[in-house]
Amino acid sequence: MSFSIPQTNPGANYRAHRSLIDAAVLRAMEGGWYILGEQESAFEREFATWLGVEHVVGVGSGTDALEIALRACGVAPGEGVVTVSHTAVATVAAIERAGAVPLLADIDPSRYTLSPACAGEVIVAARERGIRVSAIVPVHLYGQMADMPAIMELAGRYDLHVVEDCAQAHGAALNGRMAGTWGDAAAFSFYPTKNLGALGDGGAVATANAAVPERVRLLREYGWRERYVSSVPGMNSRLDELQAAILRVKLPHLHDENARRRAIADTYNQRLAGSALDLPFSADGAEHVYHQYVVRTPRRDEFREVLRSAGVGTLVHYPMPVHMQPAYHNRLALYSSMDATERAAREVVSLPMFPELSNEEAEYVAQSVRVAAHGGVS
Ligand SMILES: Cc1ncc(COP(=O)(O)O)c(C=O)c1O
Repeated sequence: MSFSIPQTNPGANYRAHRSLIDAAVLRAMEGGWYILGEQESAFEREFATWLGVEHVVGVGSGTDALEIALRACGVAPGEGVVTVSHTAVATVAAIERAGAVPLLADIDPSRYTLSPACAGEVIVAARERGIRVSAIVPVHLYGQMADMPAIMELAGRYDLHVVEDCAQAHGAALNGRMAGTWGDAAAFSFYPTKNLGALGDGGAVATANAAVPERVRLLREYGWRERYVSSVPGMNSRLDELQAAILRVKLPHLHDENARRRAIADTYNQRLAGSALDLPFSADGAEHVYHQYVVRTPRRDEFREVLRSAGVGTLVHYPMPVHMQPAYHNRLALYSSMDATERAAREVVSLPMFPELSNEEAEYVAQSVRVAAHGGVS
């Protein structure tokens, strides 16, 4: 039997929920109100309950959620915001769109998330150069949370806001506490491939801080408190009714789908133990939701090519750190070495990971990966 297995498969997730999604979309279309209506406010309440946080406000994308959360927390133009370079470029783009200055720190090489020690060095170096550092954006990458106890300690020491980038971490937890409930605010993306994905763009800001939601609501719609009257300069970033209706169908399945991702990861972990690859590391007390299952090999191109010929799709998240990208490399000052980040960018590979992957397909992927890890010889 020949296989053709994509690395990610949002269409399969739609098909898994097709009849309910189609019915919900039809109802929303017939409702006659398409932006910021009943579906959207119901989704905000349901996602807040699911997360165990007081407030959720829907916005147009994860990038917007980060920008708006930073602005709503009071981060001002010209202030420094610490984050990582090993992330979707959206994290850094959103910091700049908020008018702030990204201060990039290296990652912990086993966890792929912000190194608190390096972040501390970057904060000190930036302050010595006269930059007012006001926030930190930990990115919970690949479905695993950053070292939040250490990051919260750092934030307390330097009086920083914390905005968690939860785009890849719906349902992840650390020490029993969910991603998105640690900082002042959190940004979620509902891009179609995410663990909770819409069928278009979408995002949300979650927060327990009572002052934040009102500011987010103002910023997401032209600064309107009253319709057609802008009390602050705002933007247009709204979660539409069709996406909200789809997210409401998918949300009740998210725990089970995350559990399915973990079961696939267990299969990979067992079958790949002892191979030449570095496997994902799950920190003590971490509830990993495997947005991606990422292995590491210095022979990445050859490894991916062997898998491609075996019908196994892979992707690289991410091949070029933000500080090396043409849009940024001449502009962003660096205050730390980026050795772990640059090595990760050269070596990481994401294997197929989505809840609809069958056991048989997961076994086939693992077997093909073992062969590829040994240079294509079984
Ligand atoms: C870590 C991270 N942050 C932010 C974003 C931005 O989300 P969106 O694509 O919804 O703007 C993404 C997703 O692409 C992401 O993976």
